[in-house]
Formats: sequence, structure tokens, C-alpha cells
Amino acid sequence: MIGLGLTACNSGGMRRNPGKIYTPDMTYSRAYDAYTTNPVFADSMSSRLPVQGTVAIGHELPDHLVEGDTNAYNRFTTSMKFNADELQEGARLYNIYCGICHGTNLDGQGPLFASGKFASMPANLKDGKYLHMNVGTMYAAIKFGKNMMGSYASQVDVKQRWQIIAYIKQVQSENGGAPFTMGAEAVETGSAPVAAAQPEAAPAEETHTSH
Ligand code: HEC
Repeated sequence: MIGLGLTACNSGGMRRNPGKIYTPDMTYSRAYDAYTTNPVFADSMSSRLPVQGTVAIGHELPDHLVEGDTNAYNRFTTSMKFNADELQEGARLYNIYCGICHGTNLDGQGPLFASGKFASMPANLKDGKYLHMNVGTMYAAIKFGKNMMGSYASQVDVKQRWQIIAYIKQVQSENGGAPFTMGAEAVETGSAPVAAAQPEAAPAEETHTSH
């Protein structure tokens, strides 16, 4: 028993030999890893940008808003329409990301502000000042943040941003705002065989109508 213990401890010597690798081409990637240099490309970077003018599958067209360009914010809009399920998802996202400050009632009295731990009053989205706010300006607030409000661009993608805005606009329309225009009929699913034969996805929806 004592002998066994001693062999295992290897007399305290350090082992500097890395040993044998069974499948070196699996241990060490033969493909170029991301963020490594690459002799194939002129700029020697392995990570490539998407080809100019292309949009990755499942992504919306990029917006071209630049931070601080409030004129562009005002003009910016979307042609997206949302059915009841999607609006409900917008409400869910709002309550996850925005309600903590803006309140589940959209009155700016979210728990974080009400607790006194957040010094700046979040916009009361039911207040006259915001009731008729452009959707593009709202979008910019989500994308870039506004003063004490941080950006939510990394948390919610383009469609989700519009879903949240649609939800806000819907609630606003019920509280003195302009009539709600971002609604869509629910898409019929799976009933008639005709529906099944239709192409799976509609052509990519435009995220905006102006640049
Ligand atoms: C940490 C708190 C906080 C969170 C979370 C938050 N906001 Fe805000 N928001 C604020 C504050 C504070 C302001 C007021 C900024 C100002 O005018 O100084 C504001 C302002 C706004 C405005 C008005 C922008 C303008 O141009 O005046 C909109 C619209 C808005 N928020 C939407 C949202 C949405 C949508 C979300 C969720 C994605 C969200 N906010 C999340 C704190 C927050």
C-alpha cells in the first residue's frame, strides 16, 4: 500500500512532457480559429465581415441610424405589423427590459425608480410629452439609450424593438394617443392544404421606409 502511494506521487518531480495526443487534428483545429491571423486574406484576419449589402438569414435589414441624428430618428419608422400573439410578446419583452423603470403601467413608476435607487425619473410613457412620440425616436432610445437610460441594442433585436414599441403604441392609443396602426391580422396556420403549400417565409420585411 505504501509503495503504491509513492509511485503515484512521482517523488515530487515535475512532469514537463505534455504526453501523447491521440487525435492531434481534433485537439488542434486545422481550420483557422476566429481572431487569429490568416495569410489567405489581405488584411490577415480570419474573422470576416458579412459580404457588403447582404443580410444574414433570420435578421432584419440593418437600420442606418447614427447616434444623435434626431432628424433621422423622427423620420425613421417601420412597415412591420404585429398580430395579437406578437403584441403579447412585445408586452412580455417590455416587462422584462423596460418595466423595471418605466413601470408595467408605462407610467414611469417602475419598481427601480419607485424604490429610490434610480435617481432619474424614467419617461412616463402615458404623459402627453411621450403619447405622440415618433416610433423612430422610441427606437433610437432603445438602440442608443437616452441620458440615464442605457442602450438595449444588445438585449433586443430589431424585430423585438419594434414589437416593444408596438406594444407601447397600443397602450398609448388606449390612453389618449393616436389610433393604433401597427396591428396585423393573425396568420392562419395549418388549416387548409393551400396554406401549407405556400412558401415558408414571406420576403424579408423592410424595417424602415426611409433612410
Ligand atoms: C434603468 C431604467 C430604464 C430602463 C430599464 C429603460 N428606460 Fe427608458 N428611460 C429611462 C429614463 C431615465 C428616461 C428619461 C431619459 C431622459 O429624457 O433624460 C427614459 C426615456 C425613455 C424614452 C423617451 C426617449 C426620449 O427621446 O425622450 C423612451 C421611448 C424609453 N425610455 C423607452 C424605453 C424602452 C422601450 C425600454 C426597454 C427596452 C426602456 N426605456 C428601458 C430609464 C429606463
